[in-house]
Amino acid sequence: MPNTVLMGAQWGDEGKGKVIDVLTAQADVVVRYQGGSNAGHTVVAEGRKYVLHLIPSGILHEGKQCVIGNGVVMDPFDLMTEIGMLRGHGIDPDGRLFISDRTHMVMAWHRALDKADEARRAESKKIGTTGRGIGPAYGAKMGRTGFRVGDLLDPRFPGRVREETALANETLAAWGAPLLDVDATVADYRSVAEALRPYVADTVLFVNEADRAGKRILLEGAQGTMLDIDFGTYPFVTSSNPTAGGACTGSGLSPRRIGRVVGVIKCYTTRVGAGPFPTELHDATGELLRQKGGEFGATTGRPRRCGWFDAVIGRYAAMVNGVDFWAMTKLDVLDEMPVIKICTAYRRDDGVVYETFPSDLAALERCEPVYEEMPGWMEPTSHITRYEDLPEKARAYVERLVALIGGRLGILSVGPARETTLLVELGI
Ligand code: GDP
Ligand code: IMO
Ligand code: MG
Repeated sequence: MPNTVLMGAQWGDEGKGKVIDVLTAQADVVVRYQGGSNAGHTVVAEGRKYVLHLIPSGILHEGKQCVIGNGVVMDPFDLMTEIGMLRGHGIDPDGRLFISDRTHMVMAWHRALDKADEARRAESKKIGTTGRGIGPAYGAKMGRTGFRVGDLLDPRFPGRVREETALANETLAAWGAPLLDVDATVADYRSVAEALRPYVADTVLFVNEADRAGKRILLEGAQGTMLDIDFGTYPFVTSSNPTAGGACTGSGLSPRRIGRVVGVIKCYTTRVGAGPFPTELHDATGELLRQKGGEFGATTGRPRRCGWFDAVIGRYAAMVNGVDFWAMTKLDVLDEMPVIKICTAYRRDDGVVYETFPSDLAALERCEPVYEEMPGWMEPTSHITRYEDLPEKARAYVERLVALIGGRLGILSVGPARETTLLVELGI
């Protein structure tokens, strides 16, 4: 396996966790490169369901090494909870989980500010964040006032925590939000620093030495292309680069060492949180997708908005990520759909047609999706193990999607469990 970036092509929750788990069988090292515990990556293995927020989804494979890269923003308390969850299931991350000393931490006040900021905004201005402190943590990183994992052991750390907590309290007070207890916050970080210490490493060196030694590296993206701070539906986005470029800046691996990009894309579209969604369905069909697809947030439990497949987004994601192979997921969710629509372009009220995603949200508001229809296959697909055995109409649907967005079909997923994965083509 060449070093592989795996990223989401839509608004997150495409099934990245499941596909990472499957591809980990061919990898030696799995690296999370951005986002934080806003992510919820589900893996269903041996009858158990695991939801991972920070630790790479490869951790369930014994012996595989997992890295939380420098591009991630990590809440140490969330990490400890996740390590505890894994241990509870008999999975020991010790000795094979490494956290970059350059990774920025989501601090208690980032979380408080994230929630308070959402609460004070007018309805039309709310982003619908996960409340995990992501925006403020990346803001501090870019503003050069952030706290890195390596700082935990610095003797000046408690003093800085005290200062920043007090400063955040001024803002929280102005916003009418509950204040943080300064002494308790300082004490909390002192205790978590010790717990974290065994996992901290120079992972930039670690990843590059692994690469030099011929180990196969799998880079795990969180969120998705349309939530990217640069390429997504700004400002209704997350504060990092989930797109393939983020894999290099978030891990320290050179772009020259990436051999393959796998894009994960659902056979329909979902979004959680606010912001534009051209193919959203507000009717019974949308509700059917939500129920059949179990479209409720893995992190927040919020119902996800659902709609038809959007090839404009797929084509745009193919372009900005350079997708070689698609991992298409959740085909089975469409098993009972008599007619399936595909959005092939957007048409603006003055006749202008968009084939890739416009940057101007005002222009997007004036657009209507252009649809084509395909007949559904109306039979179950979850039991099928070979692509050739799928109903002809299901293959026709998948092949139409690939033809519209470009690239090749690598993986087709027809259920949540590991076994319900059809490996179509994965070479390079
Ligand atoms: P991620 O954030 O991209 O890792 O995706 P999530 O885990 O948030 O959401 C994907 C959901 O769909 C999870 O509940 C998965 O178990 C489930 N899932 C993944 N692939 C398939 C599939 O092919 N069919 C069905 N029915 N469910 C799937
Ligand atoms: P995974 O990795 C889906 C969304 C939030 C909100 C916006 C900003 O599981 O695909 P944030 O908390 O990041 O500041 O919220 O981004 N969002 C996600 N939506 N899947 C995710 O992660 C998401 N992570 C953030 O709902 O709209
Ligand atoms: Mg998710």
